[in-house]
Amino acid sequence: MKAFNDLADFSRDEIRALVTLAGRLDAHPEPEALKGKVLSLLFLSPSLRTLASFQAAMTRLGGGSFVISPDMSIHGLETRPGIVMDGAAAEHIREAVPVIASYGDAIGIRAFAERKNIECDMAETEFTALTSLIESPYINMESAMNHPCQSLADWKTMDDLGIPANGGKFVLSWAYHPRPLPLAVPAATLHMAAYRGMDVTVLRPEGFELPDQLMKKAAAAADAAGGSVTETDDRHAAMQDAHVIYAKSWSSTRHYGDRLADQKLREVHLDWCVDEPWFANARDDCRFMHCLPVRRGVVVADNILDGPRSVVIPEARNRMLAQMAVLHQMLGGSR
Ligand code: CP
Repeated sequence: MKAFNDLADFSRDEIRALVTLAGRLDAHPEPEALKGKVLSLLFLSPSLRTLASFQAAMTRLGGGSFVISPDMSIHGLETRPGIVMDGAAAEHIREAVPVIASYGDAIGIRAFAERKNIECDMAETEFTALTSLIESPYINMESAMNHPCQSLADWKTMDDLGIPANGGKFVLSWAYHPRPLPLAVPAATLHMAAYRGMDVTVLRPEGFELPDQLMKKAAAAADAAGGSVTETDDRHAAMQDAHVIYAKSWSSTRHYGDRLADQKLREVHLDWCVDEPWFANARDDCRFMHCLPVRRGVVVADNILDGPRSVVIPEARNRMLAQMAVLHQMLGGSR
């Protein structure tokens, strides 16, 4: 495996094989599988789970890892192309990335969307510029429009819970958040659930439609897998017989990069906080999923997060297991 960048790059059988391998590595640890291997981790954006779970994954497989982020005691890192570096930054990403990559056998990179220009973010301009600087295998640890590690873990979480692939009803719901957030998780989650073969409903208020390109990609995945994709702002209709509600806030695509206009649109939707009445016509065992971090009392009520519907903790643990499977295949543990 040369890159783990998008679940769409893999067949459904290949994804199922990774999920099976993740389960096997949990049940039957292989503490020497990646002995002597090193994973470089470059975080240009913040993290808790991704950072900790990749380090834990490498350690559990017998390898090692190191982390570099701009917050550490490194030279100031410049990312802008063509800049005269007479300011605070003493090192450019064009040297830093290949150097960091050269210390490892593979590299994981996280770089959130700039959220200034939706075309640039949809084209993954920044992430592609970073990966073009390296020749070693790489892992997308969240880019402008993707979070494949989260999606692989989410696929496994639903398998673990016995939530059906074909015939399973998955609601991806926008939720209130005080700030506009990136589209990476909703984009990846929408595609993942559709590719798993589920009947997916995107539930969002007016103005928070996901870009056509993402909806079309998901619809094609659903077609291939026997599922479906719809969207609505009608909560009651969306939640009918749902197996899963996956909550996430995202920025308005109508006012992408315009914080004030986005704020005006979102501030009337404070009631988009997932709570028990949302589940009135869902299946009794409808689960609540979220990638974390999550704002309690804003995105979701405490009683949901602390109650039996929530699977956010096993979902987060599956990040480590899913990434162990990816690393095992990428770095030769499977040979
Ligand atoms: N879900 C997720 O990627 O969490 P972090 O941002 O903490 O890594």
